[in-house]
Amino acid sequence: MTLYRATVLDTPSDPFEDGPEALRAEHDGGLLVRDGVIAARGRFADVAAAHPGEEVVDLREGILLPGMVDTHVHFPQVRAIGGLGMPLLDWLDRCALPEETRLVNRTYAEEVAGEFVDGLVRAGTTTALVFGSHFPEAVDALFAEAERVGLRITSGLVVSDRILPEPLLTTPEAALAHGRALLETWHGRGRLRYAVTPRFSLSSSEPMLDACAELLAARDDVWFTSHLNENTAEIEEVARLFPGAGHYLDSYDRHGLVTPRSVLAHNVHPTGHELEVLARAGAAVAHCPTSNCALGSGLFPFAEHLTAGVRVALGSDVGAGTGFSLLKEGLQAYFVQRLLGPRGVALGPAALLHLATRSGALALGLGDDVGDLSVGKQFDAVWVRPQPGSTLDVVLRHPADATDALAKIFTLGTPGDVAVVWVAGRAVSSAPQPVPPSLP
Ligand code: GUN
Ligand code: ZN
Repeated sequence: MTLYRATVLDTPSDPFEDGPEALRAEHDGGLLVRDGVIAARGRFADVAAAHPGEEVVDLREGILLPGMVDTHVHFPQVRAIGGLGMPLLDWLDRCALPEETRLVNRTYAEEVAGEFVDGLVRAGTTTALVFGSHFPEAVDALFAEAERVGLRITSGLVVSDRILPEPLLTTPEAALAHGRALLETWHGRGRLRYAVTPRFSLSSSEPMLDACAELLAARDDVWFTSHLNENTAEIEEVARLFPGAGHYLDSYDRHGLVTPRSVLAHNVHPTGHELEVLARAGAAVAHCPTSNCALGSGLFPFAEHLTAGVRVALGSDVGAGTGFSLLKEGLQAYFVQRLLGPRGVALGPAALLHLATRSGALALGLGDDVGDLSVGKQFDAVWVRPQPGSTLDVVLRHPADATDALAKIFTLGTPGDVAVVWVAGRAVSSAPQPVPPSLP
């Protein structure tokens, strides 16, 4: 067993119901971890006294947070990050899709899978719902890399049968066969799970969505993910292509694809009826604020989601999003709500941490396992230890209280401040400590 000594911040309860009190802070706390699971927690002195002789890891130089949960991130788009200045459909044509076609090559896909998984770990993300590739071999490479490193990944083959460049297209029959094979190989293996993933209804015919429904119905523990109501030009085109659908969400719902195991990305422009359907179904929305701002998609109507009772979590949406850090996404979510003025939701530090951790765990059906650092949960954690002398380091020496410290972490924290990341009690990577330049 290992006893971690740290200031621990997490949000086991819901700040959207309980307010700022939802932030739980343990100053000089102790977390005892046995076989990857938190066996005891409390004041360090108390836990140490109750469990004498255990190995102690001293993390008092930084702050321990739950591992981040990214509910929407694209594996084949790592190298497409930074394509600024375009709306969604142009960005897909010019940046994302040309890069995604390169993953037809297994060696290339393996390289990108390495970069992708490493990017998640460096940002402190321990669990992710990942948009895979259109190529089965590339999805296989992603699962293999996630297994090697040990992350909790839910992903699947991305399928489309219209609109996109020809190399990215498949047929409903092939989508079903390839999806089934990947699912049988990877679903439920360690921390990996399968997600049925039509790219968006714009690029999916009705028979393709039927094939997705067939794969989803085959088991009751497989996930579904796609895009929804991201951009107004996209929404108009979906309405034209699905004349029988009442709205964008209906293009999925008519095929039985909107369930408690569905996570739909964006939903920047929902109708009231769509919010009602999402709430009734228990589906979750992945809010991706840096992507929405980079593509000019719009300002996320958070208050409308809360009022309707729709679950919301955070997604980085790499590569339209501007990086893997959910700290950055949290700050951008805060900015977006500020810009909405009285129509925005005041996202305090507790809400930001919840969105980046426990909301995501709940959206992915992993709320009993991860998302906070309670006894009985897996020890998926991030040690934020600012680079010595950095502005974050300086301001964290004088926080007014735990809420203030967390606000500073969301405002200034970067992957460079993520020192150690654990999944199920195992350190998955340590970012290299900065080496001062040697003088000549
Ligand atoms: N809609 C369909 N594909 C994509 C994608 O790759 N990124 C984003 N942001 N939206 C999409
Ligand atoms: Zn996306």
